[in-house]
Amino acid sequence: MSEPARTYPRTVACGDAEVEIARMTPGDRDALVDFVAALPTHDLLFVPRDLGHPKVVDAWMRSLETGELASLVARHRASMVGCTAIFVDELSSSKHVGELRVLVAPNWRGRGLGRALIQECFAQALELGLKKLIAQMTVDQRPAIAVFEELGFRAEALLAKHVADRQGKLHDLVLLGHDVDAVSSRMQAYGVSDALGA
Ligand SMILES: CC(C)(COP(=O)(O)OP(=O)(O)OC[C@H]1O[C@@H](n2cnc3c(N)ncnc32)[C@H](O)[C@@H]1OP(=O)(O)O)[C@@H](O)C(=O)NCCC(=O)NCCS
Repeated sequence: MSEPARTYPRTVACGDAEVEIARMTPGDRDALVDFVAALPTHDLLFVPRDLGHPKVVDAWMRSLETGELASLVARHRASMVGCTAIFVDELSSSKHVGELRVLVAPNWRGRGLGRALIQECFAQALELGLKKLIAQMTVDQRPAIAVFEELGFRAEALLAKHVADRQGKLHDLVLLGHDVDAVSSRMQAYGVSDALGA
């Protein structure tokens, strides 16, 4: 059964700064475009679609309204400093699986924001009634793999030469998975026990 909706916005401490985490809405479109434009292209290789393309961003915004995607945005003052998306294919035989995507602005990395966002996604996965979360990234994204493993994700598959960068070079992807049933106790262990309530 799905959990009750978590309330947003919430504030998390990232070093000396306070970051607001809220549900993404179509009103975040322009900030999202600016945020994506400032990311190194290699950071976007794990995303199946080109986020630099306006049609892809439009589709993302539409998916927020249809519920196909659940997204969060992290803001510091007026700027977007991170975002998440959980993609669920409701028409597939894996509609119990959510594919998680997390992005943090390069100058905000290493301050705990990525971990905080992934933990919020655990709460969303429970809210959505999902059984499993997966995340994929290129094998050279060591910090990304470290964050996910630290939060209990485990490597389930290696997809060799699975994505091509803009120069046509092929990269291997690792697919990490996490059983959502194990999430609730893990969140309590990490001090996010209010995630199951308001
Ligand atoms: C993955 C990503 C979201 C992590 O965000 P972040 O804000 O830097 O993560 P955090 O600061 O919460 O780091 C949490 C843990 O990750 C590990 N970690 C973070 N940066 C690291 C680094 N440079 N080297 C090694 N480990 C690192 C540490 O274990 C850290 O724990 P600590 O704070 O106790 O040391 C960010 O690196 C990113 O946007 N990467 C590009 C996109 C991507 O690959 N996304 C993943 C695919 S879904």
